[in-house]
Formats: sequence, C-alpha cells, structure tokens
Amino acid sequence: MINDLWYKSALVYCLSVATFMDCDGDGCGDFEGLTRRLDYLNGLGVTTVWLMPFQTSPGRDNGYDVSDYYNVDPRFGTLGDFVEFTHAAAQRGMRVLIDLVVNHTSDQHPWFQSARSDPDSKYRDWYVWADKKPANADDGVVFPGVQKSTWDFDKVAKRWYFHRFYDFQPDLNTANPFVQAEILKIMGFWTQLGVSGFRMDAVPFVISTKGAGVRHPKQQFDMLRSFRELLQWRQGDAIILGEANVLPKTDMHYFGDEGERLHMMFNFQVNQNLFYALATGETGPLVDALVATRERPSTSQWGMFLRNHDELDLGRLTKAQRQRVFDAFGPDKSMQLYDRGIRRRLAPMLGGDRRRLELAYSLMLTLPGTPVLRYGDEIGMGDDLSLPERNCARTPMQWSTEPHGGFTKSDQPVMPVIDSGPYGFEHVNVAAQRRDPDSLLNWMERVIRMRKELPEVGLGDFTVVKQACAQVLVMRYDWRNNAVVFVHNLSADPIELELKTRDLGAECDTLVNVLSEAHSHADRRGRHCFLLEPYGYRWFRAGGLDYILKRSVV
Ligand code: NOJ
Repeated sequence: MINDLWYKSALVYCLSVATFMDCDGDGCGDFEGLTRRLDYLNGLGVTTVWLMPFQTSPGRDNGYDVSDYYNVDPRFGTLGDFVEFTHAAAQRGMRVLIDLVVNHTSDQHPWFQSARSDPDSKYRDWYVWADKKPANADDGVVFPGVQKSTWDFDKVAKRWYFHRFYDFQPDLNTANPFVQAEILKIMGFWTQLGVSGFRMDAVPFVISTKGAGVRHPKQQFDMLRSFRELLQWRQGDAIILGEANVLPKTDMHYFGDEGERLHMMFNFQVNQNLFYALATGETGPLVDALVATRERPSTSQWGMFLRNHDELDLGRLTKAQRQRVFDAFGPDKSMQLYDRGIRRRLAPMLGGDRRRLELAYSLMLTLPGTPVLRYGDEIGMGDDLSLPERNCARTPMQWSTEPHGGFTKSDQPVMPVIDSGPYGFEHVNVAAQRRDPDSLLNWMERVIRMRKELPEVGLGDFTVVKQACAQVLVMRYDWRNNAVVFVHNLSADPIELELKTRDLGAECDTLVNVLSEAHSHADRRGRHCFLLEPYGYRWFRAGGLDYILKRSVV
C-alpha cells in the first residue's frame, strides 16, 4: 500500500474560531486571531486543524445552524481572512478540515424562508413537510429534555416540518437530487478555498430517508460515494471524516466494502468503552470494542478522541456500565446530559490527576487510528457547569494570566472565560505551561512528537497481547516489518507485569522505551518483568537499541 494517505499519520486539533483567539477586540474569536496562533499549534505538533462551523449563522447551536454556506460569519472575519488562514496553514505544512453541516439548515436560511412562504418555491421540496402532525412526531429526538419533538408546525407554511435536531434546524430533504447537487457545490467551493476535507455532521441522518410516511428509515449509502467522488475529482487527497455514532456491524456500510465511501469516522464505540475502562479499570469491553471495529478497508481510518464539543455520549454502553461511568466521572445530575452522557471536560472528570490525564492521552495517541485532540485539552482546561447544555465545555481558550485569559481585550467575551477555581485561567494557561518543562503542555508536545515517529499505529495492524492482568492493556502494532508495543495500567494500583516474548511476538527480546531510558530485556526464560506504577504506561519499539536506524521510512 502506498503511504501518502496523510490522514493516517495526522494529528488533528479541533477548535471553534469563536472561542480560540480574538484579534480585533470585539469579544469574539476571529480568523486573524487564529492565524496568529498557528505557530503555537504547529509547535505542539498539530498537522491538521478541524474548524467547527464558521459560516454565517444565527448561532443558536454553536454554528451548526447555517444560514449561508458560502460565507464566513462576519463575527469571525471575511472570506479573505479565511483564505489567508488556509494559506498560512499550508505554508506551515498544516491542513485544514472544516465542518460540513448539511443534514439541516438554520430556519433563517433563505432556502427555508422561501420554502415556507411560497408553495411554488423551488426550495419547497428542499425540506421535509407534512399536512398533519405525524403519529411518531415525538420519537427520535436527539436532545431529550430540551427538544420535545422532531416535527413542528410552521405558521407561515401552515404545514408541519421535520427537524431531527432543534426546532430551528429544519432537515434538508437530502433525497432530492437538487439538494444533493447543492451539497456537492458546497464541498467544491470550500476545497477551492484551500481545505483538505470535511468533518461531516450527523452522517446517518444526512443519508437517511425522511418524511411522514417513512416508518423504517433507510440509509442511502451511495450518497457517500458521490460525495467522495466529487472530492477525488476536484482535489485528489481531500477526505471526509464522518460523525456517525453507529454500531460496529454497520461500519463497513459507511466505509464501503472497497473503501469507496467515507475515508474516516470517529470511533464512538471505542470512545465509550475507553471511558468505561478509565472509570472502572476493566479493559475487557475496550478490547471487545477494538476487535469489533478492527475490520475496515485499507484506505479507511478511525478518528480516536476523548472529549469533543458535545456531551460524552455513553448511549451504547449497557445501563449498568453507563451508571459506573456516571458514578466515577459525573455523579451529579448537573454533570449529565440528555439522559445518556456527561457534559464535562476531561481534566475535571479525572479530578485533575496528572497520572490519569497522561494515561488517557497516552491511550488516545496509541489506539488504532488518528488522534483528534480538542482545543484546551493540551493544558487541561476545565468546564463551567453554570452554562447551559454543552456550552459548559466550550469556554474560551486560556492563553495567559492577562484579563480574560488573554483571549480577548473586550470585557464582553462571547462566552465567559473560566476565571475562578482550580481551572481558572490564572492557574491553567498556555503561557505558564510553556515556561514549565514539566507541564502538561510540554508533556503533550513530547508525546505527540514521539507518536509521529511511530507510524505503525496509524498505518499498521494491531494485536492485543495476551497477559494475565485484566486491568492492563498491551497492544502491538506491525507495519513494514517494524513493531511497537504499548502497555497501559488502567488501575489505581501498582502492578507487577510479566510479559512473555512468546506472546509479544518476534523481535521482542529487547523492548526499547521511546519515552525514557527504562528499556526492557527479556530474561533467560523469555520474560519481561516490570513494575507498572498506578495508571502507568510504556511505549516501546521492538528490537535492538539501533531502532532509529531500523525505523520504517515514511
Ligand atoms: C452534531 C454536532 O456535533 C452537534 O454539536 C450539533 O448540535 C448537531 N450535530 C446538530 O448539527
């Protein structure tokens, strides 16, 4: 296989322009501010920036309610500023992915305005209507507790319209060929402006059949193929990273048997079981999730993440498992959301415990796929539970001890900066962590650098190595005759670990520790024995000390 599949060796960093860096002092982050921070991201080792929606929007769902697909929201700058940004990223060898939100528009979008007010409008059939309230209108809400129904009455059209998400996000009738053509046009537009692909929002809903008469929605998977084809014609190496929280048995439908659909998907199955493992110390369900999501075409790739801008969705765990994660990481009702998840940031969930944070990130960086890091997590930012729903984990980036954490000079930031408690900007900020060689930020930079030197993880095949302790996960990756081995202790106790070279496989007589001098040589009986500290982890390259020379050429 050729190895210029850049997304398999990427380190993705997700951010929202609104809360990253405000340059013009109006309280809202902007493209100019973000562009000035590109060297920071580059220094951290980020290769790909994923921007959450920045197109014109009333901003009622953090930009996931677009009212003009072909423009930058004026709060963030202009199209010119956007192109300057993509250019500046390219100059540093960095790529840009952007959100593609085409399951629905804002109700303020001119298409919806025209569709609702004129029955003869060409946009009428771009949305999903019904004359009377469908019997199943209250089923399938995505935000239980906040959203009441998936159908609402539109007073202007005097008809009911379908909205999978909030009522101000009418669903597009994606089965309509004109809507499909428009989606391709949107993709073509932004690739022309320098992006390397899209994080496609809500994929299962985009490709679903919709309508009052649809009892059992079907997924129109071929739509994904047409999206990919457009990208390959226009810009050969652009990709789609799908947000599809689906069961492993349908993964292949999304990737396509020949890898002709989505290039990447977030691995929600592993994500939820990873949090279960972090909460309980039990690695079994995580291993099951890894095995269940192993099969995929050679050009396909998983996105591995810990937290994102939404709640930590635990909906695929059993009730008992979910409860154990709630008990450990979100015991208070105020920390939970939508009856299925936890809305906190990672650092407060893990009690700010550096050992557990390192363990979690070490896992994220070494599980099979491409790591996707959320802004602020590299410095261990906290949350503000007084903010509604998911906003608690969307506060501005904390740059320094200056007012508002150096995010803005305005006294009215778009979102309040966390300014008190252990996660306040005076304690948690980039400037302070830059100066401290032992900070989380500097640790993160070092492990990212090393992760990039271990292409086996993104490109190779994995084996879960047999050993006796259920709280330890040992994984080996192989690619082009090179192997790496990762060891993680999920428990709060120290563990004496014994690994047999017989189980580790070839070339494992010597395990070269790539993060410290603590290498391991098998004893005469072919065993590696070492003491793993609580939440401890090891990154090894299999083979002799000359491993640098033997390393694969990428
Ligand atoms: C998924 C996004 O991640 C979420 O933030 C948004 O609210 C919904 N899709 C609707 O676009």
